[in-house]
Amino acid sequence: MKKLEILTDPNPILREEARAVDIFDGQFQALVDDMVFTMRSSNGIGLAASQVGAIKQIIVAEYEEEEDNDSFPLKVIVNPKIEKVSDEQIFLAEGCLSFPGKELYIKRPQEIEISALDRWGKPIKIKSDGLLARVIEHEIDHLSGVLMIDHIRPVRTVFIGSGTLGVPALEIISDNPQFSLSAVITGSDRPAGRDKILTPTIIAESAERLKMKVLKIDSIKDRKAIEKIKSLEPELIVLADFGQKISEEIINLPKFGILNIHPSLLPKYRGPSPVVSAILAGEKKTGVSIIRINSEIDAGDILAQIEVKIGSRETAEKLKNRLANFGADLLAEVVPYMIAGEITPIKQNPNLASATKIFDKSSGKLSSNESSAEVDRMVRAFSPWPGVYTTRNDKRIFITAAHLDRQKKLIIDSVKPEGKREMRYSEYLAGNQPLTFGE
Ligand code: NI
Repeated sequence: MKKLEILTDPNPILREEARAVDIFDGQFQALVDDMVFTMRSSNGIGLAASQVGAIKQIIVAEYEEEEDNDSFPLKVIVNPKIEKVSDEQIFLAEGCLSFPGKELYIKRPQEIEISALDRWGKPIKIKSDGLLARVIEHEIDHLSGVLMIDHIRPVRTVFIGSGTLGVPALEIISDNPQFSLSAVITGSDRPAGRDKILTPTIIAESAERLKMKVLKIDSIKDRKAIEKIKSLEPELIVLADFGQKISEEIINLPKFGILNIHPSLLPKYRGPSPVVSAILAGEKKTGVSIIRINSEIDAGDILAQIEVKIGSRETAEKLKNRLANFGADLLAEVVPYMIAGEITPIKQNPNLASATKIFDKSSGKLSSNESSAEVDRMVRAFSPWPGVYTTRNDKRIFITAAHLDRQKKLIIDSVKPEGKREMRYSEYLAGNQPLTFGE
């Protein structure tokens, strides 16, 4: 047995109509064995012969996981004919060895009945539902040169964002065939650092890396920016971490509205600092919401939401990155359902809403009245910015890392005295009095 090369899209062989098998000789048996071996060693659960360059009506499929109800033993299916499919269709996430790394939500019949031949040429019938039905439907498509992307109508999408939260979403939108990304809109370059060097937003950098057209704007209210967005005729706008209010004129533009990725369990923590505020409040969990925005900030109807636990030593930066990834995956999952009209957005309950504020450089200043738990939360919430500090002899001492011990007492791990390098706290203590806080 040998591992065969798997052809990937856009190879024209994947588009050919497979021929029926009529000879079940040794050469055929060897091909089947190689296909099974290739599928297994590629961690696939289904493979059609055309994917390994043999344009014949042969499918292999296998999914054996203990304690998974979707498991099915090895199937070798030759010359399949569809006898019946259910009217009921469902969405399931699909992958394909010819599209490495891609996962698409596709709607297909829940059940399928086929007649076929086994590997010895003997007639068989298979009636299946769930995952096996899905695999059979997907692989039968391959036999007529149909690929999973053919089941999708890409949505003309414009992405608007400036901050880190939107980076994974932009990457998914630019790569997932569900979306046809026509432009990326981001804030103008801003002076950054001590030398005030004009610096593009992280979204501008990502877009350039992805070879996407970038439009940098000062204000989304500018007539020129509005006309530009209109000329792109978006069916969908995805908004993440942009920091500017969007006008009704833009909100009403795309057929599917503007979807916003917000890193909290809305209606809690609306506004500019949901991640920092959730950590400061000592929340054990937060989440990410996909909403369709309206004219009120973060008050739009919720299309989807997932809960995410906050780690006891997690900083705002780490949590935000995790939420960004969850949000991007959730967006990719939601959009196919939304386009199919299978999502009923849920109104936010304004009575449960809470607002967050903008923090500034002085937000991390300790007053010496904070409890251990409060200092711990502040250090995590204000990492990396603006940092938490106390003052000794008119110099600021930043606490760069800390945690609580089993007795819930604050343990400082590292500090950065003003004008000096970051150091272990033990090193700092060698020449200084301990930093003390309220209990
Ligand atoms: Ni496939």
